[in-house]
Amino acid sequence: MLDIFNDTAADYERIERMMALGSGSWYRRRSLLDSGLVPGMTVLDIGVGTGLVAREAAQITGDPTLVTGVDPSVGMVTHAKVPSGVRLLAGSAESIPAPDHSADLLSMGYALRHISDLPIAFREFYRVLKPGGRLCLLEITRPENVFYRALLKFYMRGLIPLVASVVGRRRGMPKLMRYYWDTIEACAPPAAIMAAISAAGFIEVRQHIDMTIFSRYFARKPL
Ligand SMILES: C[S@@+](CC[C@H](N)C(=O)[O-])C[C@H]1O[C@@H](n2cnc3c(N)ncnc32)[C@H](O)[C@@H]1O
Repeated sequence: MLDIFNDTAADYERIERMMALGSGSWYRRRSLLDSGLVPGMTVLDIGVGTGLVAREAAQITGDPTLVTGVDPSVGMVTHAKVPSGVRLLAGSAESIPAPDHSADLLSMGYALRHISDLPIAFREFYRVLKPGGRLCLLEITRPENVFYRALLKFYMRGLIPLVASVVGRRRGMPKLMRYYWDTIEACAPPAAIMAAISAAGFIEVRQHIDMTIFSRYFARKPL
């Protein structure tokens, strides 16, 4: 699986712009603010990729040295564009290279469906957050409605690879989009995700869904 991210890392942000229709940075920033991120907080961004969430976090905190990004893909981290001061570490959601109780906020943008064992990851999130720390997870949710599901599948597996192959001549794109769609289809449903977050010890667990496919999960570690 990591090969896919390594091979397509150089194109990731272009692909993301096509998929999110340009709303990506704004949406990530909005979500961080909605989860309670304010200047001066320390942030761990898991599945940092090329830094789309970490860049917004660095701006909001006002100090890039407060932000640490973690990702298992060397390719993604190599292509990351983050402000100087943001630390980038090799690691995964299941094994975060950070001490216990060290972050005010843990964010994860669109990596949840790539995690094989959610309970292990959520326990790890709980471990690294300070008491009162916040969780902000973004993920694409498979639409319940069959028409919207078919539309999204066509968009991701048909239209985007076609446009990308014409515009960018990218050979890895169909493989990446197939993988994206397969992981969206196989992703745990929102109720199971929220139950697993609660089971890890978090409180105030809630989901916001936007445009029937974009889910934001917020929660807090008790004081
Ligand atoms: C779709 S990209 C998202 C990147 C970025 N967070 C964003 O918002 O655009 C998914 C990222 O999750 C990473 N990833 C895959 N498996 C992971 C895991 N088990 N733990 C943490 N990150 C993982 C991939 O390497 C990739 O960089």
